[in-house]
Amino acid sequence: MPITVNDQKKLFRLDAGNSTYIMQVRENGYLLHLYYGSHISDSDVSHLLDNHINAAFSPLPPSRESSYFSLDTQPQEYSCNGAGDFRISALSVKMPNGSTSTELKYASYKIIDGKPSLEGLPATYVNCDSEAKTLEITMEDTLSGAEVVLCYTAFESLNAIARNVRIRNTSDALLKVDRAYSMTLDLNRADFDLIHFHGKHVAERKFERSPLIHGIQSIASKRGSSSHNHNPFVILCDKTATETFGEAYGFSFVYSGNFASDIEVDCFDHTRVIMGINPTDFEWLLSPGDFFTTPEVVMVYSDAGLEKLSHTYHRLYRKNLCRGPWRDAKRPILVNNWEATYFEFNSDKLVNIAKDAAELGIEMLVMDDGWFGNRNDDHSSLGDWFVNEDKISGGLDALVKRVNDLGLKFGIWFEPEMISPISKLYEAHPDWCLHVNGRDRSTGRQQLVLDMSRKDVRDYLFNVMSEILSSSNIAYVKWDFNRNLSEVGSELLPPEQQHEVFHRYVLGLYELLERLITAFPNVLFEGCSGGGGRFDPAMLYYSPQIWTSDNTDAIERCYIQYGTSFAYPASSMSAHVSASPNHQTGRATSFKTRGNVAMAGAFGYELDLNKLSVEEKQLVKEQVESYHKYYHIINFGDFYRLISPYDNNYYCAWEYVSEDKNEALLTFVSMRVVINHTYFVRLRGLDPTKIYVDVATGDEYHGDTLMNAGLRLKEWMGDGSSIVKYFKAKE
Ligand code: GLA
Repeated sequence: MPITVNDQKKLFRLDAGNSTYIMQVRENGYLLHLYYGSHISDSDVSHLLDNHINAAFSPLPPSRESSYFSLDTQPQEYSCNGAGDFRISALSVKMPNGSTSTELKYASYKIIDGKPSLEGLPATYVNCDSEAKTLEITMEDTLSGAEVVLCYTAFESLNAIARNVRIRNTSDALLKVDRAYSMTLDLNRADFDLIHFHGKHVAERKFERSPLIHGIQSIASKRGSSSHNHNPFVILCDKTATETFGEAYGFSFVYSGNFASDIEVDCFDHTRVIMGINPTDFEWLLSPGDFFTTPEVVMVYSDAGLEKLSHTYHRLYRKNLCRGPWRDAKRPILVNNWEATYFEFNSDKLVNIAKDAAELGIEMLVMDDGWFGNRNDDHSSLGDWFVNEDKISGGLDALVKRVNDLGLKFGIWFEPEMISPISKLYEAHPDWCLHVNGRDRSTGRQQLVLDMSRKDVRDYLFNVMSEILSSSNIAYVKWDFNRNLSEVGSELLPPEQQHEVFHRYVLGLYELLERLITAFPNVLFEGCSGGGGRFDPAMLYYSPQIWTSDNTDAIERCYIQYGTSFAYPASSMSAHVSASPNHQTGRATSFKTRGNVAMAGAFGYELDLNKLSVEEKQLVKEQVESYHKYYHIINFGDFYRLISPYDNNYYCAWEYVSEDKNEALLTFVSMRVVINHTYFVRLRGLDPTKIYVDVATGDEYHGDTLMNAGLRLKEWMGDGSSIVKYFKAKE
């Protein structure tokens, strides 16, 4: 049973997989957090509460249960602002009298089979009700009239708990929500390392690990998107934790806009984590009866290191977050013309690429930026989603038919949320972009951002995109987003609601995405934001794969894909073989290594196939064959980070193991040669009792030998070289 309640002691217990989470309503009505970690047998662990902690200078509420009881020292289930808890707070509600002092007391609870959806927001879901149960605990602030429902979904067979909060105004006055994080977690220890994933354009999700310090650390974005700079995902783990050892807690925010994950260590060495919408430039007006729903945070607990944590996220996000036919269906191998042609293309050029693609076994041609309006460089035309017949002679349908006739599917690029000041759309609707009257409009990549909070803007985009998508046989959409938000104001909202625009923008984006995927259920959507600038779980709800980075250099990708793998499954990471020397770094890498690294995700090509040599074309054929052969292992198997590229900056290794443990795929990349060196790799996840055959050489090894003694690589590993080894268990 994932949820049990002891009504007498008012204990709430969640059992998600082999993790346990316990909270209790105290006699005075406060809801305190008692435990989160490995499975434990007792539910009443209230003896863990420390009522003797010296609360000098911490305010004591009149209803304290002991002379030392203070909200400032007790572990809160959902922390509030201004009523005596000086640590970081998840909730702050402004009353008509101007006060933001907020205090919640328990009112009631309810248990629901399965998991209700979150209106207007992406969220994890259940495939059948038996997969999870949901607990909703209602708390009340009787003075303000704010009613707060704390929602917890415990997944039956995964160590995962999804949390969010619903705030309703039960008063007859206007309330203003000042901050509304989606969760608080108070832990009674501070000896953790914090792992997070920072970066920039062409260098996303760099792994960083550091010990927690006293005070507040914040991993956040105020850019209007989850961003290249910080992924909405953090891990707290034992200082001694490794891939396979130690406790780890993951916090992943299912949201694509401004977020904050704040971690505070207090003077008593307690740790508090809060995660949710960034309170900077956020406010939400609640009229009487209205409610506000926060996006969800998915918490995952691991008692066996970072690998188990990742496996749980991978399973959950693959099966309970991604949706639609493309969740499970085999994704097509595509060739995208961006790095092949940039803006310099026409129908014939694309068809020539498609001809080679068809011969080589590639399954889809994607026409990237530059097919619409007068777009021959990035100075104009975003918003004018009309085919440029100078380039696409005879129109889109004619091109799609030519490509389809070659046996290939056809995909297309859009950047729906943007508007170029040089465009017909801007001439007609200069007020449709985000802007603040009287202030200059800052451009990014020569473009402004459409006000997605406006229904007329969304309707325009839906209509114009639907027209394109239904005009021909389009199988795929790459949805791009190439700048962050500034001058965030909306023409249609009154001054007191301007701080809602950041969030309304994201809600508008989700609404448009939902409308489009509902209208075109068989189209495969791929997310993108200058590469991986919006690589977050929320986007995976709409697009099961995301362009991982604009950096297609195979060696750089080892780092980027490594960082991405902590929360996101291989099936979500688009990875393409591009030209050498690489366009971003200038580095030359062998065709083989480019293929081996791109094979770690949703596979494709990003180069001019017409320019490949005979030998390279032969390699494409072999890579295509490998992709089909290994697809199920990579996309549905378990992923193991064997050697981190950060460990030595010379080489790295990863592995996939099929669900039945009968097949394993090992990839080893030598980023830089280590002179006069012998490489060993220890595999993981195999069946120790089985005998595995290295299919290429016929060499046989016991599973336990490969895992404990390891494998010595006999191959010469020069700069940028790599090998893939496929192991199959003997019958
Ligand atoms: C972004 C994307 C690229 C490409 C260009 C087109 O940078 O990440 O893959 O689509 O836009 O302008």
